[in-house]
Amino acid sequence: MHLAIVLMAKGFSHSSFLVLVIISLSISYSEQLQSSQVQTLLRIQHLLNFPSVLSSWNNETDFCNTEPSPSLTVVCYDESITQLHIIGNKGVPPLPRNFSIDSFFTTLVRIPSLKVLTLVSLGLWGPLPGKISRLSSLEILNISSNFLYSNIPQEMSILTNLQTLILDDNMFSGQLPDWLSSLSLLAVLSLKTNSLNGSLPESLGSLETLRVLALSHNNFFGEVPDLGSLTSLQVLDLEDNSLGPQFPHLGNKLVTLILRKNKFSSGIPDEVSTYYQLQKLDISFNRFVGPFPPSLLSLPSITYLSIAGNRFTGMLFDNLSCNSELEFVDLSSNLLIGKLPNCFESSSKDRVVLYAGNCLTTGDKTQHGFSFCRNEALAVGILPHRRKSERASKVVLGLSISGGIIGGITLVGLAFVIVRRVHLKKTKGKPQPRLIAVHASTGYTSKLSSEASKVSPVWYVSQAMKIGALGVPSYRTFSLEELEAATDNFDTSTFLAEGSHGQMYRGQLKDGSVVAIRCLKMKRSHGTQNYMHHIEFISKLRHRHLVSALGHCFECNLDDSSVIRLFLIFEYVPNGTLRSWISERRARRTLTWTQRIAAAIGVAKGIEFLHTGIVPGVFSNSLKITDVLLDQNLVAKISSYNLPLLSENMEKVGTQNSSGRSKELNTARVKHEEKSDVYDFGVILLEIILGRPLNSRIEVDIVRDELQRIIAADDAARRGIVDPAIQNAYSDESLKTMMEICIRCLLKDPEVRPSIEDVLWNLQFAAQVQDAWRGDSQSSEGSPVSYFQTPRQQLTIQ
Ligand SMILES: *[C@@H]1O[C@H](CO)[C@@H](O)[C@H](O)[C@H]1NC(C)=O
Ligand SMILES: *[C@@H]1O[C@H](CO)[C@@H](O)[C@H](O)[C@H]1NC(C)=O
Ligand SMILES: *[C@@H]1O[C@H](CO)[C@@H](O)[C@H](O)[C@H]1NC(C)=O
Ligand SMILES: *[C@@H]1O[C@H](CO)[C@@H](O)[C@H](O)[C@H]1NC(C)=O
Repeated sequence: MHLAIVLMAKGFSHSSFLVLVIISLSISYSEQLQSSQVQTLLRIQHLLNFPSVLSSWNNETDFCNTEPSPSLTVVCYDESITQLHIIGNKGVPPLPRNFSIDSFFTTLVRIPSLKVLTLVSLGLWGPLPGKISRLSSLEILNISSNFLYSNIPQEMSILTNLQTLILDDNMFSGQLPDWLSSLSLLAVLSLKTNSLNGSLPESLGSLETLRVLALSHNNFFGEVPDLGSLTSLQVLDLEDNSLGPQFPHLGNKLVTLILRKNKFSSGIPDEVSTYYQLQKLDISFNRFVGPFPPSLLSLPSITYLSIAGNRFTGMLFDNLSCNSELEFVDLSSNLLIGKLPNCFESSSKDRVVLYAGNCLTTGDKTQHGFSFCRNEALAVGILPHRRKSERASKVVLGLSISGGIIGGITLVGLAFVIVRRVHLKKTKGKPQPRLIAVHASTGYTSKLSSEASKVSPVWYVSQAMKIGALGVPSYRTFSLEELEAATDNFDTSTFLAEGSHGQMYRGQLKDGSVVAIRCLKMKRSHGTQNYMHHIEFISKLRHRHLVSALGHCFECNLDDSSVIRLFLIFEYVPNGTLRSWISERRARRTLTWTQRIAAAIGVAKGIEFLHTGIVPGVFSNSLKITDVLLDQNLVAKISSYNLPLLSENMEKVGTQNSSGRSKELNTARVKHEEKSDVYDFGVILLEIILGRPLNSRIEVDIVRDELQRIIAADDAARRGIVDPAIQNAYSDESLKTMMEICIRCLLKDPEVRPSIEDVLWNLQFAAQVQDAWRGDSQSSEGSPVSYFQTPRQQLTIQ
């Protein structure tokens, strides 16, 4: 009857659909549950000690056809139970002593057809038994609000159909397991309010289907792994752990981001302003520093923003704009100055705005005096600066400033290079660079690499985890206490090397990451402001292919606030020098041809950044293959560059007069110095190709001429000269390209050497050719492609 009415009202095409629905409904209504599963349900009722939610169950119950309720639902399909939801009363105590979690799950797994299982607030206690993995069809599991403890069992890694795993509000302990990455369909992972600890596994970053990741109220610590590839991630809740210090690297689809109550102490990266779907951002009660980006107030979707209890600086203007949907803003207890934005007040909606404990000019007692914020802000670090790759700015600014800062520093001999082997420089007899090491420790590089082998595996994990967009954590201020803790009060066992301005130490930070710390003694009394200009420059020396500056720390005289010592903190790169992977055979490890091209590309990118990525550019770096270090992923990083440093004679910097004539000289000099880096690169390339070190400039010249002859000869001749360790594993075309670049870099006349961009382009060409060649040679051996293409059947339940 009902059906007929709908038919008439809706027309034919709709109605046929409806008929189908009704037929299928009636089939499920006549569903009879297998009697074994009936027995299992009754047994479950018994094992759960007859909770009130199951009071309707008895021998007579037609389980498949009872009306579902919010606390109890059984869904059947084909005489089997596919969904079981049992939700007890909130706050139930644990089940009595004679409850056995093991018997309970032994019973439960007799319903292997279960796809959705909810067992919430039932007083379950004990360790979650591994046999839960026998529920192999399981797609959604929610066993929140019980008393389950011990580790999350490893056996769950075979539940590969799992899409939702919710273990909130239990007592699970141990670390977040690495095997989670084998749950490749996982969309929701929620482990809130447990006692999990340890650092987050890097493999989280490979759960590409993840939409919700909720790990709040646990004891996790260390850096958040790179989640940038989780492009579907919408909710990240890490509240109340000890994570940090770097702001996590995330995809830009986030809707909710909660980092509240952790140990984040970096700045907010620019990319947060691109989170166009972000509705809730709560980063309160951390140790964030740096400028508060007012653009957060006007993110297109933002409704909830809290930055309370950090050390954000910056000035607010009354003309700032807010997103009209903004409902809650908490800026309390930061170091903000300026006026309250008008948009905070003028709002049709009930908008909550909190801002006590800043230095805003509100005229009420909720604010500190201006000087409070200024003094506190002095201790606050500098945010990473966006890379300026504009060539034009390099030429204009680079020239005008180089006469000032760098020239001035050179004049008074204040600069030095961080890793420098003086004797090598002399034997090479190259033109003396403008900025040179005043003193150099011969042992620094090799010490670094030999130290690396002693570094514990823990360090490798955390080092890999903290790699962000740039490949390094944000630049920040370090506290003296932190550095003292990292070096065991600058214990001699952490000492690496000595330079004319101070010492280099190896330090291990709280999060486990290892850093190199350069300590500079300041002889003149200057306040921190006098150094900020230089610090700002140093803070820009950050690139994937540089051993990057991570931060600084001032140690000040308590009487007059003058700086006594300045510490500069750098990345510590663990995997030895490029040479140790190319021509030091005793190391018994060698890079493949493909890896060698990649390393060369890395070095060239590093040089390009030094030349054009910062202002003023850094030239004449006297690069050697031993100055190139490899990280745990074999990413090449330049460890030695012309770092203009500071000294007590800083006031002389400004006195240098840059007349028109000296500018011209500078132009020529910069050009020449650019090309001296290109020459050095050529020498590195030569060693990469030959697999043996070259000991003098004369030898380099001889080999270059030999290459020149061979390049036109047949491939057998070329094979005769390349490193025997890579024989037959390279494409001749890519080898030829590399040889050509190498020869051109080593040309005598700096003018005709290629630019670093040109070099880079050719290297990338060589890499492409090599890749294509590898692809060909592999597919002829029969590639495993078909295996990966097997479509995976995805089950969905609604
Ligand atoms: C546990 O003990 C209670 C009485 O204390 C009893 O009623 C119940 O049946 C027992 N449960 C099991 C599973 O043995
Ligand atoms: C787990 O189930 C309970 C009861 O249905 C529900 O309140 C809770 O929100 C669920 N957890 C998640 C994370 O969905
Ligand atoms: C993690 O917690 C367990 C106990 O739950 C403890 O034994 C272990 O030491 C903790 N690990 C760390 C790294 O704190
Ligand atoms: C807001 O005001 C400041 C100073 O009062 C001014 O520099 C800025 O350009 C203004 N911004 C806009 C968008 O009007």
